[in-house]
Amino acid sequence: MAIRFVLPLLLVLGAIAWLAAPLVGGLIERWFRADVEMRSRLVFNSVQETVMDLAQAKSSRQIDRLFRGIAQDERVLALGLCGVDGQLINRSAAWPAVLKCPPQAAQGSAFTVEHLPSGSVLAASFELMAQGESLGRLVILHDLRFIERRSSSAENYLAAFLAFLSLGAAIVTVVVARVTLHGWVRAVRSGFAAPASGLGEGKAVAPEIAPLLNEMRKVMRNLEVPRTLSDAIRVDWGPDSLRSLLRDELPDAEVLVVSNREPYIHNMEDGRVVLQRPASGLVTALEPIMRACGGTWIAHGSGSADTVMVDERDHLPVPPDSPNYTLRRVWLTDEEQDGYYYGLANEGMWPLCHIAFVRPVFRASDWEQYVAVNRKFAAAVVAEAQTPNPVVLVQDYHFALLPQMVREQLPEATIITFWHIPWPNPEMFSICPWKEEILTGLLGSSILGFHTQFHCLNFLESVDRFLACHIDREHSVVRGTEGTTLVRPYPISIEWPPAALATQPPVNQCREDVLKHYGLPAHVRLAVGVERFDYTKGISDRFRAVQSLLEHHPDWIGSFTLLQVAAPTRGRLAAYQITQEEAETLAREINERFGRDGWHPIVLIARHHEPEDVLTLFRAADLCMVSSLHDGMNLVAKEFVAARDDEDGVLVLSTFAGASRELLEALIVNPYDIRAMAEALHSGLSMPPEQRRERMKLMRDLVSEHNIHYWAGRMLLDAARMRKRRAIERQIVHVSAAGGGGHG
Ligand code: G6P
Repeated sequence: MAIRFVLPLLLVLGAIAWLAAPLVGGLIERWFRADVEMRSRLVFNSVQETVMDLAQAKSSRQIDRLFRGIAQDERVLALGLCGVDGQLINRSAAWPAVLKCPPQAAQGSAFTVEHLPSGSVLAASFELMAQGESLGRLVILHDLRFIERRSSSAENYLAAFLAFLSLGAAIVTVVVARVTLHGWVRAVRSGFAAPASGLGEGKAVAPEIAPLLNEMRKVMRNLEVPRTLSDAIRVDWGPDSLRSLLRDELPDAEVLVVSNREPYIHNMEDGRVVLQRPASGLVTALEPIMRACGGTWIAHGSGSADTVMVDERDHLPVPPDSPNYTLRRVWLTDEEQDGYYYGLANEGMWPLCHIAFVRPVFRASDWEQYVAVNRKFAAAVVAEAQTPNPVVLVQDYHFALLPQMVREQLPEATIITFWHIPWPNPEMFSICPWKEEILTGLLGSSILGFHTQFHCLNFLESVDRFLACHIDREHSVVRGTEGTTLVRPYPISIEWPPAALATQPPVNQCREDVLKHYGLPAHVRLAVGVERFDYTKGISDRFRAVQSLLEHHPDWIGSFTLLQVAAPTRGRLAAYQITQEEAETLAREINERFGRDGWHPIVLIARHHEPEDVLTLFRAADLCMVSSLHDGMNLVAKEFVAARDDEDGVLVLSTFAGASRELLEALIVNPYDIRAMAEALHSGLSMPPEQRRERMKLMRDLVSEHNIHYWAGRMLLDAARMRKRRAIERQIVHVSAAGGGGHG
């Protein structure tokens, strides 16, 4: 940069010197000449009387002596006395032989310049007048060569001076420019963060920076436009739109998913390998995304035949019938599984985040395993990444530390963490002994997603309470020492239409099949409940509501059945065993009390059902009960809606499930209010068909639009915007490094 700046400056100053030197030379010549002329007059004035006396006395020798004395002045070359006839009467020794008496100078001037072979001389001729009569002229000669010499040295000095001046000016300018540029870059960089974080917008900004900053903010805001567009314009989100989003907005981005639960489990049953798709909302949501985008899904290989199915790199192409992404299985020891999964994740974090009044248990030994397993998965992410900046989709409370661990090794990665369960308020969260570590770990994410704004706010409050971070609430951004995390709600959803729907028989057929399969009379109104046997799901409360319904609306005795399928889950934990036992006992008691002639009000099937079977149940039902005591989203509610392409069926939905924020046409209930829940059941079963259709249509509209591709699309759009923003930031750092010696 210095060369680019200094060279033109030197050229310009050189040109100035070239033009100015003759002028300066002329000026100096004139100064010296005026000086010489003045001296001539002084000499003349001082000797005039003496010369006239000696001339009148015709004392030639004395005149010579006088001339010799005066000519010793180095500025005087020679003196001569010219007679009235123009003849040279006297002259000093240095008078040039070729020079006669110079002609009378032009009117009013006593000076002429004589150009002799030895150089120019100035001749100053002064009339000697005595009583009005001329006695001749005293001529004083000055050698003008010294003036020429001096004016040419002056020109040289001037050129040298200008050269030094220009060099000095260039150096000073470059130094000042670099210091100023550095300051600008710093100011721009801190102001530049303002659109995302709000930082700097309130700060005083140097007036010269303000216009530049405003321009840059405009550019950055333009990058915000796609968000508005994606929210405002109705896009039919599906696998194709997601693929084109990846292609256009995140070109060459490698997608890596990390979750504890794997999408395909291989178990050994009776010497055969059996494929199972787990009961997990997370898997239900993520699997269609991976089918659309491709990439690698890193998960715990938990099946008894999982090791048999993978290659030497623990890879398995899935889905098994038409593979289009890779499942990378990570193996855990029993000790790791106990501490990380059963212990910290499911006895600590799960009850901590769900208000279900089950006390969280925190053991230091579990924490150690949790840290170790997070590290193991982080290493798997780094090993799988083919590029320095993959898009890593981290799933759920099993991996709160992993984002930071990955960030340390892949600083350029875009890490999107989605927390599938609720986030507690800071008071609740404060009981966790490792709260700071968990928050710091999560803040390694570029984007942290929750289902609801409420959970985002709880998270921000927790950060505010336990970490020293800047929180920009306007933009929902946490700015820590390690970077920036955008905290946003992304309500999760399901594939629309669900893939398994394609093979489903018509609704009437489903109903017939299900009633027949479970030995239920053809006339019963059927409610279904489908979940894991988890204490957060409110299964016993649901049974109590059935009991209350039959108590208060006995007409339903014999003509209503709740078919509850519940997949046993986390069965090694006491809280889960108790939940299942309690529900089974309660169902038995209610059935004993109200059952008659082979009819039972509750059919409880405690086993895992594959997605196709679950869809059949939904299609067979008049009503679906989702009575979670607390749930991040609850995708069963959305699956029920998606299954009902006949636009019939009633959804009874807990107000404590995230889904209740979107499915407003469901009958929203408080699962702790058993009586009210029984009344909701009654009104649902009695609801006129047109009203059922109207409600179902509206809910289907919402889920079809806000489907799983919309969920992923919004997160990936935010990620793409963030990557563009980072690219611009990197350019600024680059400019500052090149121009101002700054560093990024
Ligand atoms: C919830 C969690 C998921 C989990 C699922 C099943 O939906 O958010 O992360 O996969 O429950 O639980 P499990 O422990 O069987 O994986």
